[in-house]
Amino acid sequence: FVNENTYNRYVAEGREEEFHRLYEAALEKVKEELGREYPILIGKEEVRTEKKIVERSPIDTSIVVGVFQSGSVEDVSRAVDVAKAAFKEWSSVDWRDRVELSLKAAEEIRRQKFELAALMTYENGKNRFESVAEIDETIDYFTYYAHILEENRGFVREMESRIYRNEHAYSVMRPYGAWLIMAPFNFPAAITTTMTLGAVITGNTVVVKPSPHTPLLPYKMVEAMRRAGFPPEVVNYITVENEVIAKYLETDNKLDGLAFTGSKEVGQRLLKQFINIRPRPAVLELGGKNATIVTAKADLNKAVEGVFRGAFGFGAQKCSATARVFVEAPVYDKFVEMLVERVKNAVIGDPRRRETFLGPIINKAAVEKYRRFIEQAKREGGRILVGGRVIEEEKSYLVEPTVVVDLPYTSDLWRTELFVPILLVMKVDSLEEAVRYANDVDYGLTAGIFSEDPKEVQYFFDNIEAGVTYANRVVGSTTGAMPGVQPFGGWKGSGWTGRNAGGPYYLLSFMREQARTWYD
Ligand code: ALA
Repeated sequence: FVNENTYNRYVAEGREEEFHRLYEAALEKVKEELGREYPILIGKEEVRTEKKIVERSPIDTSIVVGVFQSGSVEDVSRAVDVAKAAFKEWSSVDWRDRVELSLKAAEEIRRQKFELAALMTYENGKNRFESVAEIDETIDYFTYYAHILEENRGFVREMESRIYRNEHAYSVMRPYGAWLIMAPFNFPAAITTTMTLGAVITGNTVVVKPSPHTPLLPYKMVEAMRRAGFPPEVVNYITVENEVIAKYLETDNKLDGLAFTGSKEVGQRLLKQFINIRPRPAVLELGGKNATIVTAKADLNKAVEGVFRGAFGFGAQKCSATARVFVEAPVYDKFVEMLVERVKNAVIGDPRRRETFLGPIINKAAVEKYRRFIEQAKREGGRILVGGRVIEEEKSYLVEPTVVVDLPYTSDLWRTELFVPILLVMKVDSLEEAVRYANDVDYGLTAGIFSEDPKEVQYFFDNIEAGVTYANRVVGSTTGAMPGVQPFGGWKGSGWTGRNAGGPYYLLSFMREQARTWYD
């Protein structure tokens, strides 16, 4: 297994300009696709509803990205029926064939890499580096999970039987049935894929329900999988408003599993509904309030760049975003001064432009949330050292990356996931104190440290409560996990199964064990 890693590969080969040319050509090419209508896909049937969901681009709200159907509870129910009916046959397909389909889907997506990345820029405002990286991550899931299935020989194991000579025992991991996949807006290709593929490569069938803000890339993923040969009844796709799903789940007793990535509040509510009817597996990834620690032994150049990228990349709209920084007193003033300088130099604007670091946040509601949190931070005694202003909120949704200091620890902003670019910084007296603060939240997704002292790094790894941890990560402190390299998932309120996406155990979440024993 080898990560896709497109941008770095072009740079290493001295072809950086070609990377930019390909992406810019794709931006032009996909213009003709914008505004198209997309059906709900239930098996082979294409469903159109009277009501529509019109997706507008956050980079320019006059651009319609696509027109999608607004499905009803009955449509969801029908899609689940089709997925359920397809389960028996699909689950008996040899795992080697499923591996092959996954590799074919990777190839489908690789072929359209720059077009899909360009559509992502239109769909959720990611800049070219982050868009291409997300398509890379998506391809990685297809190739990595295929590799994991192969490495584990389809998760069939002969057990050692030493008691009865005529006994033959096996452990066989088997799928559950039909799953509902609920995807978030921030990684509409990669996170949709990790959950969808995790389910179907292990023999389950799915109904994919994208975020109503970003239904296009999920449609493209489902389309690519179907083109690669996954049967249409196995991978269904339905666009509905979120209330429709909540309504459907009130009475659903048909689904066999639920995979959801999104906020803790929504996830917890869905989970309660889901298991209220009967115990069923759920794979939940539920956000974070991620800390980075900067000790007196840090290389401050690394720390500033890492924190800047981790805190403000894609406007902090990542569950992995750095949200809190704890800095040891001797380097506090210097660190803060350098960070503020770095933030001032960030280019904010249209993400179609090469130099843009930060494009828009997702929608008007996010802008309102940003404004509310800024007001709260000020009211409660925080000092804004840089940022704090809304730049544009009609034609696009541009806000300034913000650094807040001196915020009293009683403020609930220290414990709430914000999902907008507001970073809280605090001075601490020791690494131990920093770790205590870092752990003092209901979340446990990612965490970072900057220190050149291996003993400090070891202390951090041993004591931090988080599923994904990094030391001295300049490319983004707590962000940017790669499949097969940094298995991604949370502890405490951030996760549910404790098996990280893009890691060797993720697929086990979608299977249950059957012991098979027979005697001669
Ligand atoms: N997997 C994404 C990251 O690590 C969310 O940033």
